[in-house]
Amino acid sequence: MKFFADTAEIDDIKEMAATGLLDGVTTNPSLIAKSGRDFMEVTREICGLTDGPVSAEVVALDHPTMMKEAEILRKIADNVCIKVPLTIDGLKTCKALTDDGTMVNVTLCFSANQALLAAKAGATFVSPFVGRHDDNGSNGMDLIRDIRTIYDNYLFDTEILVASVRHATHVLESALIGADVMTAPPAVIKGLFKHILTDKGIEGFLKDWETTGQSIV
Ligand code: E4P
Repeated sequence: MKFFADTAEIDDIKEMAATGLLDGVTTNPSLIAKSGRDFMEVTREICGLTDGPVSAEVVALDHPTMMKEAEILRKIADNVCIKVPLTIDGLKTCKALTDDGTMVNVTLCFSANQALLAAKAGATFVSPFVGRHDDNGSNGMDLIRDIRTIYDNYLFDTEILVASVRHATHVLESALIGADVMTAPPAVIKGLFKHILTDKGIEGFLKDWETTGQSIV
């Protein structure tokens, strides 16, 4: 399963890239606003930090304007992936862009039928939002299971990009179900390294090592 960082914070992206775990980045208008940076400038900088796809979202609601925005965004770098909402106009834009060889991430997916439409429109990625689903009283991971079944039934190439990931269990279940990608805030990814027994183990080994009086370097 690929790991994307769901952030527009440069320092966090650099730190993740250094671990070798970074397969791409997703941003959205809220994350850009939170960064306080210019959209084009920060997107260009992020594209230079990873070879993987960097999702940059259109903000228009109609297909012709989405195409104009996508035209500007895709010139930023070869690894820009245009993010469009799961609407009729969004999927028209998805079809036009992917036919032209541009990567597209169809976002704000909340049902398996919507994911089916995104795949039929040729989406490179579909982003089902599990956390927001959970917040709304449904089980977000059930949605991922359904989409996996549908995509496998029809051998769709569209990659399932689990989004709105809030905790380690979302990551674990995504991997068990066989999602292609998950995107999470850096804090969630950092949390995956942690285990109390790892910390206790290191502590115990170092205590015993000290008694030997030896050093490696
Ligand atoms: C990713 O592409 C989405 O924009 C993001 O995961 C949304 O997460 P949120 O529901 O925590 O805002």
